[in-house]
Amino acid sequence: MNDSSFPAGCFVTGTDTGVGKTRISAALLRRLALQGQRCAGYKPVAAGVSMIDGVPVNEDVQLLRQAGSADVTDAEVGLFQFAMPCAPHIAAALEGRTIDRAAILAGGQALLARNDFVVVEGVGGFRVPLGADWDSSHIACGLGLPVVLVIGLRLGCLNHALLTVEAIQARQLPVAGWVANTVEADMAYRDENLATLQHELRERRQLRCLGVVPWLDDPQPDAVAAHLNDAAWRAAFGPAPAPR
Ligand SMILES: Nc1ncnc2c1ncn2[C@@H]1O[C@H](COP(=O)(O)OP(=O)(O)OP(=O)(O)O)[C@@H](O)[C@H]1O
Ligand SMILES: [Mg+2]
Repeated sequence: MNDSSFPAGCFVTGTDTGVGKTRISAALLRRLALQGQRCAGYKPVAAGVSMIDGVPVNEDVQLLRQAGSADVTDAEVGLFQFAMPCAPHIAAALEGRTIDRAAILAGGQALLARNDFVVVEGVGGFRVPLGADWDSSHIACGLGLPVVLVIGLRLGCLNHALLTVEAIQARQLPVAGWVANTVEADMAYRDENLATLQHELRERRQLRCLGVVPWLDDPQPDAVAAHLNDAAWRAAFGPAPAPR
């Protein structure tokens, strides 16, 4: 759909599981939807489901579908959903299933073809094994999407952020930028960690900071989106199109 020179989607990865990938993805989708863009989330591999209206659905899948503006089903957004909240290839094996790489790429390409923008959420960190010889980084590579790195501000995040940037760049994928997300209400030396990230990522590696999100009592998409840096997102992904 998007025929500009700007990317028509991004792959959202994180320094770890539970760092805010879904919250940031939902905020981005909400922002795009408010701009009049037809946008969809894609969470091709998700482990752990809850019963919603009698149907087992992964919470991330539901949040992403609701935040986007495209007419998509939970099954399209969450192609491979598994019951057990554990490493996805293990969750798949428990059900006698495998994760089909070609199907994931086809599902992503179909969404990219139908929408102005697609936000693809990875699973856990950047290199989570999904089969005997592939991992979650292959989804970003296969779809050729720039990567947004969500850094969960907690002890250890500096090392995880630098290792993840190295792994992304080793695959020749562009890093669209990074978001620092406050996942601990009272993290010790938060500002000092943030200053180190700015130095290491922005100043030394010229990687855009796309937002710094504080701890929020209720991290709903609108509340999170208020802390994204619009100018930085525009620089990475282009101006908003005219409303339809
Ligand atoms: N800025 C924030 N303030 C308060 N709570 C937050 C914030 N960001 C995320 N959270 C909470 O942290 C938890 C993890 O966030 P989220 O589900 O977005 O992480 P994730 O990286 O997508 O995790 P997963 O690896 O399971 O997909 C959620 O309960 C979410 O509500
Ligand atoms: Mg998530």
